[in-house]
Formats: sequence, structure tokens, C-alpha cells
Amino acid sequence: DRKYNGGMNAPIGIIGGSGLYRMEGLALDRAEVVDTPFGAPSGPVHLGTLDGAPVAFLARHGEGHRFTPSEVNYRANLWALKFLGVERLISVSAVGSLQARHRPGDLRLVGQFIDKTRHRQDTFFGGGLVAHVSFAEPTCGHVSKALLAAGRELALPLEEDALYVCMEGPAFSTRAESRLHQSWGADLIGMTQVTEARLAREAELCYACIALVTDYDAWREEEEGVDAASVLEVMHANVDKAQRLLRAAVPGLAAAARTCACGEALKAALYTAPEQVP
Ligand code: ADE
Repeated sequence: DRKYNGGMNAPIGIIGGSGLYRMEGLALDRAEVVDTPFGAPSGPVHLGTLDGAPVAFLARHGEGHRFTPSEVNYRANLWALKFLGVERLISVSAVGSLQARHRPGDLRLVGQFIDKTRHRQDTFFGGGLVAHVSFAEPTCGHVSKALLAAGRELALPLEEDALYVCMEGPAFSTRAESRLHQSWGADLIGMTQVTEARLAREAELCYACIALVTDYDAWREEEEGVDAASVLEVMHANVDKAQRLLRAAVPGLAAAARTCACGEALKAALYTAPEQVP
């Protein structure tokens, strides 16, 4: 009974990253502090409606931005959203650009990841429960297409299928690392999204990522490199684009039937004790 509307309407989950600590236009119903088997989430989950559609909003880095990308309790965050009935998750995240055509202020939809994280808990499994989920296609095509269509409606220049390198941080890349990532053909770099994508898949949630380009990372000779102050400044100046995109996409998505395979990710993944699935 703690599920949203008794579980009748699955809210769309939105995780806001650096610079997105509250969702513009969210008519707040209540804030839930969820106690999870993995500890405390980054903060309360704000439940309400966005233009009539049920939404659950969580600030990834906590209210007041208290957690580094390595410190965020991703498992608790995803568990809390699943517990509150979320079936589809849209993450918003600041990213650096690894290619000249992705300019600061641009929005991109992520399609693929390269995972370079090292110090974080990124699975619900283990401790006697063994599962290997398919992760070849880490994002939900249905949700990404809905976002792309909303971008078109708003005439926001938006590209899909970006390749995102997820690094551990918290320091930004060296020039040599940045150029290596670029030579891999990667488009974007960030510190959080592959972990949310993995856990969303294990939790059988649809997942899509709106990446907001804040800088050119360190590969450009003519730039000094990236710093946190300029990342936040560009994020603040452009975060309204991500909010507009969400508002344009969420009501239609909330009303659309879930026809993708994301909700059945564990069907062929479990090796042991299916009755113990969290
Ligand atoms: N987030 C925003 N810009 C970034 C960058 N250049 N590298 C890693 N994470 C980022």
C-alpha cells in the first residue's frame, strides 16, 4: 500500500543529476523516505504528477549535492524507485563531450556504454543469488524513441545512440585519457550512468538517459581542461531544455503500454532460487 496510488499507476522515475535537484512543474503529492535492504537512498523520493502523469523524482547526488559519483548509493536509489512502483526510469546527467559536434548546451540520448568504473556496488546479485542479465542493449528503445519524438516536437536538436564512457572520478580525465576515449569513437563521458543502467536492467526497469553536454573534456589543445564550476554553470544555463524535453515526453509515455522486453530481463538470467528475486 506504500506504492503510488496503490500500485495502480506506475510512475515514471526521473533521477536528476548535478544541477537538477527538483523537477520543474512537478505537482508534489508527497516525499517518501524509503528504507532499503541496501541502505539509504540519496534522499527522499518526490512523488507527484507532471502535467497529469505520475512521476517519482530523486536527486542523484542528494539534496545539497552531498555524494560524489562513487559515494552515491545507486542500489538503494534504484531499489526505492522500484519499491514505489516505477517501471520506466529516465536519468538526466551532465556529460563531457569527446567529439567536436557535441557542443556544450546540447542534449544527447545515450545508446551504449563503456564501463571504466572501479569502486562501486553495481549489482543486486551475489550472496547466493546468481544472475547474469543481458546488457548488449543497455537502454530502452521505446523510452528513447519517445524522448527523441518529444525533442523533434520542441525543435530541440537531439541525437540518439551516443556512446558514453563511464569513468570512476571524482577527478576529471587527463588529456591522454580523454584522447584515448576519443580514439575509441566514444561521444560522451560521465561518472554515473552505466551504474544506473545496470541496476535498472537487473530491476527490470526501462532505462533511458538524457545527457546534457557541459564541456569538451580535456582532449582539445586550445582548452585548459574541465572544472566543476564551469560544468555547473553550463548545466544551470541549459537544464531547462532537459526539463522541457521531460515534460513533452512523460505524459505520452505514461499513457503508452509497455511493449518492450525490459520488464522480463530476469527471465533467462537467473541461475538460482528464482523465488528469492528482490
Ligand atoms: N560530467 C560533466 N563533464 C564531465 C567530464 N568532462 N568528465 C566526466 N564527467 C563529466
